[in-house]
Order: sequence, then C-alpha cells, then structure tokens
Amino acid sequence: MIRWLAVLALVVAAAVGWVLALGTSALWWWAAAPLAVLAATGLHDLLQRRHSILRNYPVLGHARFAMERLRPEIQQYFIESNTGGTPFDRETRDLVYDRAKGNHGEEPFGTERDVNAVGYEFVAHSMRARTKPDVRPTVRLGGPECTQPYDIALLNVSAMSFGSLSGNAIEALNGGAALGGFAHDTGEGSISRYHRRRGGDLIWEIGSGYFGCRTEDGGFDAARFAERAVDPQVKAISIKVSQGAKPGLGGLLPGAKVNDEIAEARGVAIGTTVVSPPTHRAFDTPLGLVDYVSELRRLSGGKPVGFKLCIGSRREFLAVCKAMVERDSTPDFIIVDG
Ligand SMILES: Cc1cc2nc3c(=O)[nH]c(=O)nc-3n(C[C@H](O)[C@H](O)[C@H](O)COP(=O)(O)O)c2cc1C
Repeated sequence: MIRWLAVLALVVAAAVGWVLALGTSALWWWAAAPLAVLAATGLHDLLQRRHSILRNYPVLGHARFAMERLRPEIQQYFIESNTGGTPFDRETRDLVYDRAKGNHGEEPFGTERDVNAVGYEFVAHSMRARTKPDVRPTVRLGGPECTQPYDIALLNVSAMSFGSLSGNAIEALNGGAALGGFAHDTGEGSISRYHRRRGGDLIWEIGSGYFGCRTEDGGFDAARFAERAVDPQVKAISIKVSQGAKPGLGGLLPGAKVNDEIAEARGVAIGTTVVSPPTHRAFDTPLGLVDYVSELRRLSGGKPVGFKLCIGSRREFLAVCKAMVERDSTPDFIIVDG
C-alpha cells in the first residue's frame, strides 16, 4: 500500500510542477522534469513483473542495482588488501603490469605476507648456491615410438581455448611463448589465426568435439588431423580425456559466441551451439585410448602425443596403465589436471 501511495505522491507532485511550469514560471520545469522522470520510473517499477525488488521498492530499488554495479570497484580500490585478492592479488597484478610495460621485473626483498601461514611456499636456502644455467632447463617429450621429440620448457601455457579467451588474449599468450621459449597449449578450441601470428610453439589439444579435425557429424577426421598436425608450429598433441572444471558433463559453446573466426578454427558452422560430448567417440576403453595415442603419433609424423586427465578414480587410471603394459606402448606425456 505504502509503495502505491509513494508513487501516487510522485505523480501528483509531477503534475503540480507541470501545471506551475505551464501556468507561472518556466523555472518550475527544473522541478517538474525530474519529478516526471521519477513518477514514470515508479509507475514502471510497480507494474513490471520481472524484478521483485523494484516492485516492492519502486524507485529506491534502483539504488541496490547501482551499488551492485559499483561493488567490484569498491571492493578492489577500497577494501581489498595488497595481498588479499584472488586469484591474483594486487601485489601480483602490479608486478605483471610493471613487466608488461617494461618498467621493471624485479621484486625487492621483504614481504607483507604471513610466511608462517599453512600452505606458504618458499625456496629453502642452500650452502651450495648455483648460478643461472646458460641453457634453459627443458624436459624431453618423446618416448621410443616418437621420431620428432620436443624439448619442452618447465613452465608452459595451460590449455585455454580461443572462444573461452579472446583473440587478443590468445595472441598475447602465444607471443609470450615465442619470446620465452615455452609451449602454448591450444585448448580444445583448436588452432585459430591468433595462435599463428606470433609463431610460438603449440601443443594441439584434441577434445571430444575434435575441433579442427572433425567430420560433419562431429567424429574424428583422421585425414584432416594429419593435414594440420604436420604443421611445424605444432610440437606435440594432447588428447583431452577429462578436465577438472568439467567433471563428466562435457562442454558447450553457445551459438551466440560462434562467430566466423571461432567457426573457422573449430571447423563448425557459424552461429551453431557446439557441444563437446562427455566421452570420446574415437575410443571407449583404456586399450582404445592407448591405440588412439599411437594412431595420432603415426598420423602426425611421429610427434609426441599424450593425454590430459583429471584423476577421479585410482582404479580407472590403473586400467590405463595396464592397457599400456598390454600394448607395450606408452604416451609421451600425461597432463594431470587438479
Ligand atoms: C578460460 C579457461 C579455459 C580453459 N579451457 C580449457 C580447454 O579448452 N581444455 C583444457 O583441457 N583445459 C582448459 N582449461 C583448464 C586449464 O587448462 C587448467 O587445467 C585449469 O585451469 C587448472 O589449472 P590451474 O589450477 O593452473 O588454473 C581452461 C581454463 C580456463 C581458465
């Protein structure tokens, strides 16, 4: 009842202001116009049925939405401490900004962090300190069945698809990989034009949607795969079995996001919703996975092939190990997701 009376009062006040503006002085418009806007807003809020807050608190309810919009900035600029934000706190972001602008990349000693906190990680001192190696440390990817091994850096860019990240982000990550000599995992969205511009080493990830090497009906297209896998920029192939953030339901890229560039990279039609099914069609047993690894290695001309998975069940992983023993064949690497 009160809300109706409040809006009625606004309507009456606006009408009175209107009459005064027309009948006496034009200065009354300064009051009549805002009152008319408030009255119209109040009527709209009362009559709409979408937001209960606006219906219950006409006009005033908008303050709540305004505060909600300002909340991240207030949190970031006034409340968050230098070390409190997640996933990256201000101190870490400042370092990234400085390095990106070429200002400086060093951090002075001293810390605001609680070094006694559980989980605080640090490098222990040694009496046998070492100088920086002349050659950057790498690990060889490529077992006996691999004819084009790849010496991969110790820190690399984890799989994040073009589509989940923008073209600029992909290009920046790949440019970083080229500058730093590390590898950039494409994610299951396949290889886009943004992966190519800077020429950084790529690990091509093949998910259950087989993007970039898929048949019309969403299966694995061996010929298409072979064509793209021999590209010298592709240094290794990773089969995505599972991923921590997608426990068992697969993935979905809404049609609204599938523009011409994403469609080109993934080999799908523009504007169609693309689904990564929960399971692969190219194999459905541990032996099938081991055989698929061998097949991709052969099709790619002997490049390192491995798989990525999130280990939810010890027994399932042991079954894959048994399959490797049975086939006497191992992947060149395994990526374990958290
Ligand atoms: C934006 C974004 C997109 C991702 N896309 C993929 C993907 O396409 N394929 C994949 O295997 N993992 C994907 N991941 C998962 C990451 O590769 C990684 O496994 C996950 O973030 C866990 O690593 P972290 O703890 O270092 O973040 C994605 C993660 C993010 C944040």
